Amino acid sequence: MSDEARPRRTAVVIPAAGRGVRLGPGAPKALRALNGTPMLIHAVRAMAASRAVSLVVVVAPPEGATEVKNLLDAHALPERTDYLVVPGGETRQESVRLGLDALPEGITTVLVHDAARPLVPVDTVDAVIEAVRDGAVAVVPALPVADTVKEVEPAGKPGDPEQVVATPPRARLRAVQTPQGFDRDTLVNAHATVALTGEGATDDAGMVEKLGAPVVVVPGHEEAFKVTRPLDLVLAEAVLARRRANDGF
Ligand code: CTP
Ligand code: MG
Repeated sequence: MSDEARPRRTAVVIPAAGRGVRLGPGAPKALRALNGTPMLIHAVRAMAASRAVSLVVVVAPPEGATEVKNLLDAHALPERTDYLVVPGGETRQESVRLGLDALPEGITTVLVHDAARPLVPVDTVDAVIEAVRDGAVAVVPALPVADTVKEVEPAGKPGDPEQVVATPPRARLRAVQTPQGFDRDTLVNAHATVALTGEGATDDAGMVEKLGAPVVVVPGHEEAFKVTRPLDLVLAEAVLARRRANDGF
């Protein structure tokens, strides 16, 4: 089959294996409820809302794979969307790699989307997929930053003043979100070759940058914010309430 004739199938890997330490004590973050529905289900639905997505691979907390599978079985997805559940790893980077390992043949475009960004609108998902299909090997949705950002030399002890090293011009900075979209082979190659220590990569596009491959930015969305701290739960439930009210009109 020629490249032109080969169908481009798109899958999404959803890392959902984190504990959610910054959210405080409780269930793993992806399983916490937003207006009665687990965050992960919101995130899976947000991906399945795109007609281009044919498969969702959920990377579950290592001890929670069966629970996550049951949860997905209990919440209907569109007919066109298959799903798989695999157990995750110690770091986000490891979890994403385990998700990539589970991709079947025939998938050419891969999105990676944080379960912790449950409210991303479908237009953002489609814009990322379209940019990959138009030929970009790595695409990130991003927004201009509101705060001025400083680079510091981390303090020796928590709470000690930190020395400012640099102030990058704010107009050139972007806060990146997910879903990030990739040519499958490029992302798999990045995960196979880019070694990072400690916490590992918090951003897949950054690993592709390390390969020397070009990464492009498309407009992100305010509602694609990451649920990280307790106040983010309040914001997420407010967004859902606003959507429900708007749907009523
Ligand atoms: N993640 C993962 N496997 C890990 C760590 C994180 O799949 N070992 C996932 C999280 O479930 C989340 C996404 O990566 O959907 C982004 O990570 P983050 O927001 O940092 O979530 P947590 O690591 O769960 O939160 P915290 O850092 O506060 O513990
Ligand atoms: Mg984390």
